[in-house]
Amino acid sequence: MRKVLIAGNWKMHKTNEEAEALAKEILRGLAETKGVEVALCPPFTALERVKKVIEGSEIALGAQNVFWEEEGAFTGEISPKMLIAIGCKYVIIGHSERRKYFKESDEQVNRKLSKAIKMGLIPILCVGETLEERKANKTWSVVERQLTSALNGFQGEGEIVVAYEPVWAIGTGIPATGEDALEVILKIRERLSELLNESFASSTRILYGGSVTPDNIMEFLKFKEIDGALVGGASVKSESFIGIVKKAALRGET
Ligand code: PGA
Repeated sequence: MRKVLIAGNWKMHKTNEEAEALAKEILRGLAETKGVEVALCPPFTALERVKKVIEGSEIALGAQNVFWEEEGAFTGEISPKMLIAIGCKYVIIGHSERRKYFKESDEQVNRKLSKAIKMGLIPILCVGETLEERKANKTWSVVERQLTSALNGFQGEGEIVVAYEPVWAIGTGIPATGEDALEVILKIRERLSELLNESFASSTRILYGGSVTPDNIMEFLKFKEIDGALVGGASVKSESFIGIVKKAALRGET
């Protein structure tokens, strides 16, 4: 059984104070909600504050990025060891904004993912095509390349989560259709089965991400093959994030 996961990617939003307040609102708003795993991924600076708020609850903590070395002279970087020490369970790896603005390559994504797994974090690996690539019918070749290269050398020695996030749907208010997301997600699962094995593929959660709101979350979750969502914009407002999680919990009950 794959438990639905709703992860909030707060991106570069929220000071410590604001992050603490948001986490408290989310914790309060979801006190009675069961059957969905929730993860909050604030900026590095707010990880500890948010951790203190959610400690003892079912809500998990995640980071938005990580470096592949444990420690050393790497100014500005954060290691998996540091994230573990703060209490992170998840780490987002290969988000399209990092690929675009910070020129993260498939190879770097692979190094980050391998190290994160080795250190005991669960990567949320982001893959997805740009609008140009989609128009050129390259959606699957791009996603397949990103997935295969990210998992190079990985032999199933830890859990991973994959998030299919079409770049053109991120932050645009134009989500993919449930059917479009499903098509790629089915292929991702098939590819996981080829790269690893059937049981790894069938137990791995594959999320959709890109302009998810309380109004459209069920467009995706109506398909049992879509295991949750990575939420950006709607995750930094308690009302919309709580709304998404509560709707997702209804699927769990049906
Ligand atoms: P969005 O972002 O929900 O604002 O489109 C999703 C993401 O970047 O993970």
